[in-house]
Amino acid sequence: MAKILAIGNAVLDTIFTVEQHPKEDQEMRALSKNHQVGGNVNNTLYVLKQLGHETAICSTAATDPESKQLISGMQERGIDCTYIQKFIQGSTPNSIVTLNAHNGSRTIVHYRDLPEVNFDYFAKIEIENYDWLHFEGRNVENLAGMLNISKTFLDNQPISLEVEKPRDGIETLFSQAHLLIFSHHYASAKGYQDGRSLLQETAKQVPNSNLVCTWGAKGVWLKSINGEIEHISAIPVNPIVDTLGAGDTFNAGLIDKLAQGSSLKEACEFANQLAAQKIQKRGLDDILNAKPENRAIANIKQLSKAKATVIEVGSIGGVILIMHENEVRAYENNCPHQNVPLNEAYKIDVNPFENTMKCSVHDAFFNIDDGECVDGPCWGEHLTPVSVRTDEQGDIYLA
Ligand code: FES
Repeated sequence: MAKILAIGNAVLDTIFTVEQHPKEDQEMRALSKNHQVGGNVNNTLYVLKQLGHETAICSTAATDPESKQLISGMQERGIDCTYIQKFIQGSTPNSIVTLNAHNGSRTIVHYRDLPEVNFDYFAKIEIENYDWLHFEGRNVENLAGMLNISKTFLDNQPISLEVEKPRDGIETLFSQAHLLIFSHHYASAKGYQDGRSLLQETAKQVPNSNLVCTWGAKGVWLKSINGEIEHISAIPVNPIVDTLGAGDTFNAGLIDKLAQGSSLKEACEFANQLAAQKIQKRGLDDILNAKPENRAIANIKQLSKAKATVIEVGSIGGVILIMHENEVRAYENNCPHQNVPLNEAYKIDVNPFENTMKCSVHDAFFNIDDGECVDGPCWGEHLTPVSVRTDEQGDIYLA
């Protein structure tokens, strides 16, 4: 297995799992909160460690109490932290992440007040002791020199550069890397509609680099040196639980296979599979054994007998949840009259005194207890029940 050094950012993440992302000026309660160490290359190294590689990070840290937490968190991940440049000024970088419990999408607010690794510090590292160098595409000013000495002094070790976001002058670094990994954020910001058009243009500037562009549900585009542009479809995943770190996981899978001598296409296929596996579970622990989680669809505290709550559940679609005599009732959100959601025209009105709820399209009334239509155009028909179970914490699962 390879010795891999990655140069980039290390961050403390605070993750709030929420029903939905808040709007501006909105106040909401999170379903859960947890802390973890993060940052792109830190995550990539953690996955590479699980794939059996020796990993080391070159990053910066402050001297505040949080920096100890950050470094010990990385060490717990099995990452060698010998090359952490310490700064008295500044503070540990933080990300506040809101994670949508229903579709795994994440919104990140990042705060950084810490210098980046400088060239002089990097130049003292014996980079020839490593089999692979992976750079996060930030800190462009210092990275230019780091990439330059790496390419000049290393004969056989591959150099990869992650290009996640557009940054001033980042294109000047491209020719120094053997492998460029672009995200769709960069491609979109540069006006490209897909990875193919980005790679076509980039290949003209850097014909001697392998190129990869990941684009979420649209899949992955790749181009090896002298090869044609190829496309790999995204692997359908349902439900999506957590996309935080999916790109970092992809990068780890890619480096892992390339370090073992696989072709670029084989490496992308493996990385694609690994990233799909990751988004079916929370976090990055035990990523190789990731199995789809049986995820709670709601908590009983969210429900009442006076309101119908509609939850999107990947395999079923909308599910109506409502309390009835201290028990949860669950039905497919599909009116038997015209097979449309009950809230197609407006919200689902509930009458807690008569224990009915009403389809907003043509005013069919349904018993909350058994889903029977007791008044309206589909009189005598039933809503389709959904089997659910509730655990001791009040979390509701599909049964
Ligand atoms: S579609 Fe529901 S009452 Fe007609």
